[in-house]
Amino acid sequence: MKRHLKANAYWVGKVDWELETFHGNEYSTHRGSTYNAYLVQEEKTVLIDTVWTPFAHEFVDNLSREVGLDSIDYVVANHGEADHSGALPALMERIPDTPVYCTANAVKSLKGQYHKDWDFQVVKTGDTLDIGNGKSLVFVEMAMLHWPDSMATYLTGDHILFSNDAFGQHFATESLFNDTVDQCALAEECIKYYANILTPFSALVRRKLSEVESLGVPIDMIAPSHGVIWRDNPLQIVSRYAAWSQDYQENQITIVYDTMWNGTKALAESIAEGIRQADPGVVVKLYNLAKSDETDVVTEVFKSKTVVIGSPTLGGSILHSVAGFIHLLSALRFKNKKAAAFGCYGWSGESTAVLCERMGQAGFSVIDDGFLAQWSPSAEVRKKARAYGKKIAES
Ligand code: FEO
Repeated sequence: MKRHLKANAYWVGKVDWELETFHGNEYSTHRGSTYNAYLVQEEKTVLIDTVWTPFAHEFVDNLSREVGLDSIDYVVANHGEADHSGALPALMERIPDTPVYCTANAVKSLKGQYHKDWDFQVVKTGDTLDIGNGKSLVFVEMAMLHWPDSMATYLTGDHILFSNDAFGQHFATESLFNDTVDQCALAEECIKYYANILTPFSALVRRKLSEVESLGVPIDMIAPSHGVIWRDNPLQIVSRYAAWSQDYQENQITIVYDTMWNGTKALAESIAEGIRQADPGVVVKLYNLAKSDETDVVTEVFKSKTVVIGSPTLGGSILHSVAGFIHLLSALRFKNKKAAAFGCYGWSGESTAVLCERMGQAGFSVIDDGFLAQWSPSAEVRKKARAYGKKIAES
């Protein structure tokens, strides 16, 4: 399981092809994931991060067989979340006196989860650890990217940035490196990861990228804690983060809805037609939330300049699928995006007002009061819905 990265640095993680969801059931992982741990064997041997708890014993057994646990001089815990720290209890049981280098916040998160008092060595940005052969580790705090305890570790001499969650993606691969995998699939997983996990922290991402740039250190390889290791043009993912963190949008309008008797669905399709007729250059996509993966739809919202959201009226409000989705959008704190609302109703018709209010609260700039249609949309109503699509395209 030990795989060579560069010089005396190795990957010692776990590839999880079967993972279907991450963060409980919050995030779909259609292509599995990896938990990347690394070993640097200079005069001192350093283990950087571990793997998720279900693989703890496999991880420790492999390390024991291939490296020898007693040879590990230092453990670096870049982040306390269980997908990277989950094997620490099993490991530290075997090497209890080995120092664990981490941020002050990681001491709290690790103690809070495992209730152990290991030999924590607290580090902050700029602190270094000499590992011999003229090389050292430099620590860079990455607070709120994406936990308060997060940090990155830079290996001098070999110029490898062990970036932890930043620059990662949920993508299982046996071949490890970015130039060895399907580039379209990789790009999809990178943007999905940013959209669903890092969007709320975009201002921090911008600041951290500037900080790292100002250090002026060469980066030959970026080794995150999930997915591929960036060895071919590693700064390409940094450039993408720079773009994504600037209130990113493409020329796309996404229509998101749920429907009861297909009336709201018919409106969605007419609105889409109207948008396309008004602006053939814009990418228009439709998603029925009852039949779509929410984290995939979030990625489409991330790429959009406008989100058109629809629900019929039920119980004086909106369908719970749509309400839940807006809640998800709200937590991601999107900026610089417009919204419009639509929906069918039978007799009371509150849905568009509720949609406008909640999309406004979620940080979207709502263009008007929305498009509301009673009963099943007639040809005349569909024509008006197409005109509403035109208005959205021109807004
Ligand atoms: Fe924040 Fe991959 O854990």
